[in-house]
Amino acid sequence: MSTQTWKIPDGFILGAAASAWQTEGWDGKRPSQDSYLDMWYKNAAHIWHNGNGPAVATDFYNRYKEDIGYMKEIGLTHYRTSINWSRFLIDYETAEVDEVYAGYIDNVINELIASGVEPMICLEHYEIPAALMEKYGGWGSKHVVDLYTAYTEKVLQRYGDRVKYWFTFNEPIVPQTRIYLDAIRYPYEQNTKKWMQWNFNKALATAKAVQLFRAGKAWLREDAKIGVILNPEVTYARSSAQHDQKAAHIYDLFFNRVFLDPCIKGGYPEELMELLVRHEIVFDHDEDELDLIKQHTVDFAGINLYYPCRVKAPSRQWNDSTPFHPAYYYEHFELPGRKMNPFRGWEIYPRIVYDMAMRMKNEYGNIEWLIAENGMGVEDEKRFKNEDGIIQDDYRIEFISSHLAEAVKGITDGSNCKGYMLWAFTDNVSPMNAFKNRYGLVEIHLEQNRRRALKKSAHFYRQIIQNRQFETELDRLYK
Ligand code: BG6
Repeated sequence: MSTQTWKIPDGFILGAAASAWQTEGWDGKRPSQDSYLDMWYKNAAHIWHNGNGPAVATDFYNRYKEDIGYMKEIGLTHYRTSINWSRFLIDYETAEVDEVYAGYIDNVINELIASGVEPMICLEHYEIPAALMEKYGGWGSKHVVDLYTAYTEKVLQRYGDRVKYWFTFNEPIVPQTRIYLDAIRYPYEQNTKKWMQWNFNKALATAKAVQLFRAGKAWLREDAKIGVILNPEVTYARSSAQHDQKAAHIYDLFFNRVFLDPCIKGGYPEELMELLVRHEIVFDHDEDELDLIKQHTVDFAGINLYYPCRVKAPSRQWNDSTPFHPAYYYEHFELPGRKMNPFRGWEIYPRIVYDMAMRMKNEYGNIEWLIAENGMGVEDEKRFKNEDGIIQDDYRIEFISSHLAEAVKGITDGSNCKGYMLWAFTDNVSPMNAFKNRYGLVEIHLEQNRRRALKKSAHFYRQIIQNRQFETELDRLYK
């Protein structure tokens, strides 16, 4: 079979990602420090795979030195995780810092740097404190935006001297889409207007964090940058027909441009605002807030890319008594013959990386961006072990190389893509699918006290990082 060799540009980041709540575990956490995720797990543990959840996770809180040792062994250039807002503070109103947890973050950052792995820090990966959900309704509240700004200030003051890459949020659209749009997460309330308010308040919180960042240069490394990690779904219409194109266009407005535009361009698309008016879901805002968003766009963007989104014009009748949901304008479409990851139920289509690269170049001012997450979650990986007990995850190696190849193509064609971060470094806890689908380069043995073991993909990743090149099979490329 013929192969193609891909050269990785100098300075291109090759790292891996995770988050605080999916790895740390609750050891040392005070009873008052539950995050939204902790609250959801406590209220509905029965829907979490085999009852696993954030309580122990990978026990990174106690085992970070060991894990960073593996990062060093693999040679990761960068590691991205989050700071757990709910644990970082003792008092969310006064922003009083929990010195024990803050000291642990100090140690993690220092250990990473000492191991030659550059830390990237995200300020919120769904870890809003449960108390703020209960007291103020979470991100629906402008007061919560201010509390987040106060938290951000404390974090930047403390770690700004050592961390270059900062992110305001990971996938800010996701929690409210699951909670208020689709009502599949605690507290199970369908409310499209609240969904939109959360979207706006998080865009506003990003702008306020950027404002603080620019004003607080004294605490920061000279080369520090602030961005946001978004998960725009590369959206393809079923056909070239106008009705299908319209479905894709409107899907893109509601789910992609709703964050891409305010965070990168500084404002909302007019068409989206018209739709919000038409369906009576305009968010509460004033001109000063819109101006703040306009003046404080991000330095760079993290983009999480896993699967394509395919839509067609809706064929069913909308029931008048059903409250508005963007699905009024579209239905999902399954491409016949599509390649699937059956465990996660996501289509595999590496071309999304190239198409996103071109979009960033052509529609978003060729801003600096990186693939902040990409990866493949597979169930029951034990069946792929060889006689030495090493998981032979060739499917993951193919997944990584085919997506990375599309990134290199995008760079060749002028996109400002600066790196690739694999999800995830170790297996970890997914929302509800906790430890079901395994994503890691490093296996976590739940039955053996969470013992770690490198998978075949970890050795492959190390080679890519060392050699700065890799190969793909030509007939597997996506045209
Ligand atoms: C991203 C999130 O959406 O995808 C991660 O940032 C998540 O937190 C990852 O774990 C994989 O999705 P899932 O649902 O399989 O864990």
